[in-house]
Amino acid sequence: MIIRKNTSSSPDQNVIYLISDPNQLARLPLSEQEQNYIREAAASKSPVGFGFNRYTHHVYVQMYAETTGYTSIEKLRREGDQAVLYFLQAKQTSAVLFAPDGEASAILAFAEGFALGSYKFIPYKQKEEVVFNELRINGDWLSSFQLSRLENLVKACFEVRDMVNEPVNVLDAMIFARKMADSCRSVGAEMKVFGRKEIEDLGMVGLLTVNRGSISEPTFSVIEWKPADARNKQPIVLVGKGLVFDTGGINLKPGNGLDAMKSDMAGGAAVFGTIYALALNKVPVHVVGLIPATDNRPGQNAMVPGDIIRMGNGKTIEILNTDAEGRLILADALLYARKYDPSLVIDMATLTGAASVAIGRFGIAGMQQGASRYMKPLMESGMRVYERIVEFPFWEEYEKDIESDIADIRNIGKGRGAGTIIAGKFLAHFIDYPWIHLDIATMAFMDSRESYMGKGATAVGVRLLYDFIEREEV
Ligand code: BES
Ligand code: MN
Ligand code: MN
Repeated sequence: MIIRKNTSSSPDQNVIYLISDPNQLARLPLSEQEQNYIREAAASKSPVGFGFNRYTHHVYVQMYAETTGYTSIEKLRREGDQAVLYFLQAKQTSAVLFAPDGEASAILAFAEGFALGSYKFIPYKQKEEVVFNELRINGDWLSSFQLSRLENLVKACFEVRDMVNEPVNVLDAMIFARKMADSCRSVGAEMKVFGRKEIEDLGMVGLLTVNRGSISEPTFSVIEWKPADARNKQPIVLVGKGLVFDTGGINLKPGNGLDAMKSDMAGGAAVFGTIYALALNKVPVHVVGLIPATDNRPGQNAMVPGDIIRMGNGKTIEILNTDAEGRLILADALLYARKYDPSLVIDMATLTGAASVAIGRFGIAGMQQGASRYMKPLMESGMRVYERIVEFPFWEEYEKDIESDIADIRNIGKGRGAGTIIAGKFLAHFIDYPWIHLDIATMAFMDSRESYMGKGATAVGVRLLYDFIEREEV
């Protein structure tokens, strides 16, 4: 969606009035009756928005009371989403936003929810769909950088959502890598894609093992954004799980909702999207993205429970459930990250259903080792963009659960509890740097529409990591 400054006006254009001062109502093209109606509604509930059909155009009035704190900002995003649904319903594709009170944070939040809420996944619809494509902001309340920053972030989120919504018969590991590479090339970020041969040479045993049941080639993608004016000496490395489809393998998943497992590469896509947005906005930070990708299927040569593999750092793993595959491919990427001498590594993965059991779909499960000083500002970013992080305990006692009798560690816990933490503890065997693990299984893919996050892919993680990296001195 285009988000630009408004430069022209016509009487037939759709207009949105975003106002906090009720006295402004009298100046809008509304009848006395309409004004009173809105005033009353705003008195009992805030914020509130109404659309009016003026035949040649629509007038949408959005009232809000405050922008103090994260929650009121989030409410404005959700109001923006309601507004775009109104325009889409009316088959409209553009509007101009007037905000006479001139509160930059309110305008940005409303516009963000509006833009993100307009997303549709339509490549397979023959019937023509209405796509809202231009929101123009009147006045000089926002700088042109603030506007293009938002436009680029939305663009990155939409590309990520498209990839995540794409089914595996269209988007296998190689196509996934190619799509990311095409976009990276267009913004001057470098990307290398390793295929089976190089993955074998690199000794990525976890990725190769998960891939054994597949007839498609695995990939390991390395994205690098290294602008000449980068302010950090040691890079930040982002690692994303790129499981293009998770059947569970031989420990096959039950059929209910299995289609959603096309979204098991959402962490990988979000890593791409974060770096893509940083490059689009030319943020002066050196960032590396690592994305191991494959599907996980039963097959004649598929890994089976009981298999023992030896990882690149010598650690042996007893595979007791082939559905705990994400941690196997992430382990290779975490080992690979060492060669960058990173200041911080953050991984994002749709890793455990247990995360949703613990906190539902309104937050991310986070853990850290040696990175408490980064976790705090990251959690603040989480509040700011409203992809909130709950920090889970990472006590050493959990370690016992993955001790194996015949190998160094097992890939699942022994008991039934703390599955999300145990997955994190498994990953910790492969790191030797400050590290944050984000389990995004909760929020990556919505079964029903969740405001501007949408239905299906949400692109969770992109706005979060972008905000953190743009601000943080790392
Ligand atoms: N990709 C799944 C986790 C998942 C489940 C993500 C539901 C999104 C929604 C992961 O590979 C998995 O299967 N995890 C298992 C781990 C278990 C075998 C220890 C799980 O959560 O059941
Ligand atoms: Mn699985
Ligand atoms: Mn999985």
